[in-house]
Amino acid sequence: MERSFEFVQRATTRIVIGQGVEAQLGPAIQALHPDGIVLVHDASLDAMAQRIAASIGARGVLAVGGGEACKRVDMVDNLARELSRLGATRGTALVVLGGGTLTDLAGFTGSIFMRGIRCVFCPTTTLAICDASLGGKNGINHGELKNQLGTIRQPDLVFADIDWLQTLPDEQFREGLVEVAKKAAVLSLSNFEQLEQLAPALANREPAATLAAIEMAVTMKMQVVLADEREADLRRTLNFGHTIGHAIESVSGETVRHGSAVAMGLLAECRAAAPIVPGEVIGRIAALLARLGVSTTIPPQWANAGLLWQFAQKDKKVRGGRVPMFVPPILGQHTTVELTEQSLARALS
Ligand SMILES: NC(=O)c1ccc[n+]([C@@H]2O[C@H](COP(=O)([O-])OP(=O)(O)OC[C@H]3O[C@@H](n4cnc5c(N)ncnc54)[C@H](O)[C@@H]3O)[C@@H](O)[C@H]2O)c1
Ligand SMILES: [Zn+2]
Repeated sequence: MERSFEFVQRATTRIVIGQGVEAQLGPAIQALHPDGIVLVHDASLDAMAQRIAASIGARGVLAVGGGEACKRVDMVDNLARELSRLGATRGTALVVLGGGTLTDLAGFTGSIFMRGIRCVFCPTTTLAICDASLGGKNGINHGELKNQLGTIRQPDLVFADIDWLQTLPDEQFREGLVEVAKKAAVLSLSNFEQLEQLAPALANREPAATLAAIEMAVTMKMQVVLADEREADLRRTLNFGHTIGHAIESVSGETVRHGSAVAMGLLAECRAAAPIVPGEVIGRIAALLARLGVSTTIPPQWANAGLLWQFAQKDKKVRGGRVPMFVPPILGQHTTVELTEQSLARALS
């Protein structure tokens, strides 16, 4: 069955997401008139990558072990060397097949290789489809900090077939939906209510519900990105859950994955911002995440206010020692609240 939607952001990024659309990837790349195609893929997706490489006529195929550990400077170096070895030019299209770590690593490399080559993101996780592949932020980790080095450059094409998600474990499938719940909570009450309705079907991974949630995520994120590409204000709202979420990822040595950490961060930030975020809002967000089958409990070994506070203070959004959080005072709206060590400790108690 084929169903899909398309969203064109200005004249730069074309976003095509659907079910049963894989055969359209080749023509969509050709529409960019590339001077050769190189496919870089998550090493765990070898069979899918070989099939797609053949259908799009890739000149080179590079496998990279996915996961947070690949977002490193030396991996950028490796990838740039491989691109040179394959004879990549400024006209080459770099097609990236994998989760958000791959789109971040390859998107970063592609954005600086020869001052930027064409990038086609083919996200294969719900998190990457609903968030990481959209908006043009390309980040890698540095030292002990997440996404410390990065660029802002929109991909030329984002293309995904939701059939690619079939091999994702349930836990990872649901983690991506956390980012959709996050966006709806601070941007759109009607989308939040729709997610509440869709939640049982989403937890069962029903394709129609999945596509509806993805379309909602794409529309919300691209509206924000269009309005505010440089994160002056509106885009910062997408950091809801990420001030404490990133601290949890860092404290755990990246053993808690991004989507899970954000789910924990959403609830912890709401609690830290109470009563500005009222109990009724906290209850509805907790209930939605529970219906999606996502845990919001911080593992006890990482629920350490002192340690989390140390990392929260190193967040990129910190100004003059103030640690901002972007939270919903009512569903569908957002406000900025300062996180303190005391409010963090209260949120964890
Ligand atoms: N640039 C941005 O704007 C942005 C936004 C949100 C998140 N991110 C980044 O995205 C990353 C998280 O993305 P993620 O959750 O996709 O992580 P990921 O890339 O690590 O993928 C998760 C796991 O799933 C595996 N995998 C990928 N596709 C699969 C498939 N179809 N079937 C089976 N297994 C598959 C991967 O090998 C990996 O082990 C984080 O590094 C985060 O910082 C970036
Ligand atoms: Zn995120």
